[in-house]
Amino acid sequence: MHYSFVSQQDPEVFEALEGEERRQAEGLELIPSENYVSRAVREALGSAFTNKYSEGLPGKRYYGGQEFTDQVEEIARTRACRLFAAAYANVQPLSGAPANLAVYHAVLQPGDTVMGMDLSHGGHLTHGHPLTVAAQLFRFVTYKMKNPETGEIDYEAMRMAARREKPKLIIAGFSAYTRELDYAAFADIAREVGALAMADIAHTAGLIAGGVLANPFSHSFDLITTTTHKTLRGPRGGMILVREENEELITRINRAVFPGLQGGPHMNVIAAKAVAFGEALHSSFGDYCTAVLRNAKAMAAVFAREGVRMLGGGTDNHLLLLDVYGSFGVGGKEAEEVLDAVGITLNKNTIADDPRPPLDPSGVRLGTPAITTRGMGEVECARVAEIIVEALRARDDRAKKKALRDEVRELAAAFPVPEKFV
Ligand SMILES: Cc1ncc(COP(=O)(O)O)c(C=O)c1O
Repeated sequence: MHYSFVSQQDPEVFEALEGEERRQAEGLELIPSENYVSRAVREALGSAFTNKYSEGLPGKRYYGGQEFTDQVEEIARTRACRLFAAAYANVQPLSGAPANLAVYHAVLQPGDTVMGMDLSHGGHLTHGHPLTVAAQLFRFVTYKMKNPETGEIDYEAMRMAARREKPKLIIAGFSAYTRELDYAAFADIAREVGALAMADIAHTAGLIAGGVLANPFSHSFDLITTTTHKTLRGPRGGMILVREENEELITRINRAVFPGLQGGPHMNVIAAKAVAFGEALHSSFGDYCTAVLRNAKAMAAVFAREGVRMLGGGTDNHLLLLDVYGSFGVGGKEAEEVLDAVGITLNKNTIADDPRPPLDPSGVRLGTPAITTRGMGEVECARVAEIIVEALRARDDRAKKKALRDEVRELAAAFPVPEKFV
């Protein structure tokens, strides 16, 4: 991407823009929530829609001049419904966290109980971390894995807890969990206790849209929230999907988004969502998703061979969670720094019932969405896993780390960040 106007007008900001372009091109991005968007998505993000206010919904706006905002929002909504077999989509949430908060605001009363996955077992902050505004308004209770070695969720314990705690909302979703969720079990428990079932598919949205992971709506979930970045490979943003033509629920969701939580939607982002959803509807997107899973399994095979402990024992999706403290005697913070120095970006992460503090936990989390977008296959991904193991073992060996850094640069140069997906 060229920044001809910024470079002339504002060299200070240009330096940061150019530095980030270079960092992304030369390093390998393994943070599982990150990806590269197409040039078409970036064009829509930088379009004239960024100048427009459009509070309200298509056909019912509070400002004039909405001919084209209505057009583009309808395209985004229609494509979102097609991707996820939804009856209704609100594409206005500014990101994943506001989308979750909007659902809570729409379907709960203050003091109501919500059930979500324990944070250290893979859940997300917005599913009840005490520092969130949601946790101050609602009462969150958690479920966990039965066995962190297999990743199996303790659905029986969840059922018992749901009978006891009587949640109004049960959330299936995660940011650091590697196994398929049993959506049918979630839906059954929710039905039994009279709760709504919501899936937060922020991490796996692309894989669901691409047909390689199960769709919660096929198991009667009421609601889906998601980010539109990550595996879905769109702009940073959020969205809420409703399975059935339930007018009352749809109205409550719409009102919770606006005016409940937001003012004007970011129409340039909605235009970019529409473009990204168009890309995800293309047949090549399914091939990309298949490759994401295959590549993650290729990395897991190397870690298994090298005796690295993986939470959940491997992966069914795009991400892996390694116990680096147990496997290499190195904390997550240092592991992140060592790998950053060789050009591999991933993030430190808490593991189940982690004895170490959140800012220096026992684990690191990594995933294949971004390197798969660059066109890497199983051979390259297996080599990246080996580089991770070699770098962590040789963390005090400067010469070895330099050799690995050079190898990472060569690999990155051989797989440039693409601009076009369809
Ligand atoms: C499961 C889940 N929900 C919600 C979010 C929040 O999304 P955002 O960072 O866009 O607010 C994330 C982000 O990582 C996530 O993983």
